[in-house]
Amino acid sequence: MPPLVELHDKKNILERFTPPKTQLLKWVGNKQKFAPEITSHFPLNFNNYIEPFLGSGAILATVTPKHGIGADTFKPLIEIWNQLKNNPIKLIEWYAERRNLIGKYTKEEVYEMVKASYNLNPNGADFLYLSRSCYGGVIRFRKLDGYMSTPCGAHMPIDIQSFSNRVKTWNRRIKGTMFFNQDHKITFKQAKKGDLIYCDPPYAFSQAILYGAQSFNLAELLYEIEKAKTKGVFVALSIDGNKKSGDFICNLPIPENLFERELFIDTGRSMLKRFQMEGRSLETEHVSDRLLLTY
Ligand SMILES: C[S@@+](CC[C@H](N)C(=O)[O-])C[C@H]1O[C@@H](n2cnc3c(N)ncnc32)[C@H](O)[C@@H]1O
Repeated sequence: MPPLVELHDKKNILERFTPPKTQLLKWVGNKQKFAPEITSHFPLNFNNYIEPFLGSGAILATVTPKHGIGADTFKPLIEIWNQLKNNPIKLIEWYAERRNLIGKYTKEEVYEMVKASYNLNPNGADFLYLSRSCYGGVIRFRKLDGYMSTPCGAHMPIDIQSFSNRVKTWNRRIKGTMFFNQDHKITFKQAKKGDLIYCDPPYAFSQAILYGAQSFNLAELLYEIEKAKTKGVFVALSIDGNKKSGDFICNLPIPENLFERELFIDTGRSMLKRFQMEGRSLETEHVSDRLLLTY
């Protein structure tokens, strides 16, 4: 058993950042569940917090940075983040205008109306409602034409009061953050020595596109990470083990000495375990999220 003092420190570190109790957007694969563990591995001191693949912002909201940058190539999503920051009342109105239609129409009818409006003209107001009401928070687009194709969820979208409570909590947590609709390469350029970048990049699927995965190339990201490390920026990279990303990353030319540590997030096991397994394949083990750190 480790000495008590270590347990005490670990507890303090895990409590350094606390995730919000609820999510603003429903988003498959969001990092809310792992947020305490992931953020416990962030450096004790850093300047700006930067998240180039923001998605539903689970880690950003957990960190609640004094000075932050949140960016994503998905334009309707950044419209939501800017509205949350600059005009939270309007964001609640966006949700209420659509949610209030349930009763006059069935939730399936409302969902299809909003989806049709979104597909005609992708926009944050429709997308907000779709993310809250679509099946399992699966934000999926047709490869051919970019249409959102997810069916309606079985659940009832949360009521307006609950949504408005979430807006209040999340608005407080993102007050110090600026939002940009841009590629990760531009966001990386904004980082300075002493800043922390947390990356949770997308994964490409064969039939459909989850988020904006088609425009993403992992080799390019690794190159950006290398440049950032040289500048004195701390970088943490999440790799989702459920998507067979063991192979996904192992087959890539990862620059030597780019990452100093690799952790298995769901269990907290360290790479040491891997070496102790002496040749037995990790594939037989349950592998979930991995975190690679340049520091
Ligand atoms: C796995 S999600 C991030 C999930 C997030 N960590 C959360 O907790 O919700 C990846 C995000 O990267 C965005 N993205 C895809 N390609 C990108 C690129 N080239 N540059 C920046 N963002 C990109 C997608 O739109 C998506 O929102």
